[in-house]
Amino acid sequence: MPGTIPAFTPLQATLWLTLCAKALDNRLSDPILGDATADKIVWSTGYAYRRLHLTPSTVVTIAHRAKKLDEVVQRFMTRHPDAVGLDLGAGLDSRVLRVAPPSGADWYDIDFPEVITARRLLLPEHATPNGIGADLDATDWLDALPRDRPAVIVADGLLAFRSARETVSLMRRLVDHFPSGEIAFNGYSRFAMWVLRHARIADALRDVTRFPGLDDPGIVERWHPRLRLDREILCGREPEVARFPPGPRLMTRLTAPSATLSRMISTVYVYRF
Ligand SMILES: C[S@@+](CC[C@H](N)C(=O)[O-])C[C@H]1O[C@@H](n2cnc3c(N)ncnc32)[C@H](O)[C@@H]1O
Repeated sequence: MPGTIPAFTPLQATLWLTLCAKALDNRLSDPILGDATADKIVWSTGYAYRRLHLTPSTVVTIAHRAKKLDEVVQRFMTRHPDAVGLDLGAGLDSRVLRVAPPSGADWYDIDFPEVITARRLLLPEHATPNGIGADLDATDWLDALPRDRPAVIVADGLLAFRSARETVSLMRRLVDHFPSGEIAFNGYSRFAMWVLRHARIADALRDVTRFPGLDDPGIVERWHPRLRLDREILCGREPEVARFPPGPRLMTRLTAPSATLSRMISTVYVYRF
């Protein structure tokens, strides 16, 4: 390895959870996301992913929601080839490689400086075309981004680790900065937050999960007058479920008829402004 990976804080270290899930998905016979880059990083760092106790269900849920968020970005960039793409709390995820934005688009990965340094050490160079090493709650990092282009903004696995107040404030700044766009994130229901705090997987997460949970996507529309719910993707009803391994597939099929149950388990919310 060309340099030393910075030590991560417990909050930053949550990136291993999502990265390892994507790596393990890639090792399935029929991967949902198929992220070979994630697999390569976990393999090359020798990260001890077994201590995360990732279940098959957690693996496919994380890989699946990442795929749905990729599709949101691709769909937006097809309509707006000059768009600006933002990945908030990007961790070591290489979304830009998966979505392959059009040449007129620009992509920004934002995470703490230590994480952006680690990205530069562990990921291929073109996986971080514009890395911004900043605390999302700092007010100045947005100043460097264009103000006159539509934006597609994703937050994958981020909201659980932020207070509701911090998320509302960030959303307001983002909507005020860009003329138009979409903001998409995976939902964390109150049930999902309870699971995160109590499941075995959560040993490493317990102290850094802060979000109370969101059961009503309509609430987000109150965060900014320009924000409107565009669509709610109930992941359990998406076609990829047919390719889940048998256990997670059965569980998902059982819950899919109920929107409430599906929402509690895995949802991607897309808001436009
Ligand atoms: C669970 S990881 C998800 C990483 C990535 N999105 C993925 O799907 O693999 C959460 C990420 O959010 C970042 N993060 C959390 N709070 C942040 C903040 N206030 N400013 C910048 N990054 C933050 C962490 O450093 C971490 O990389």
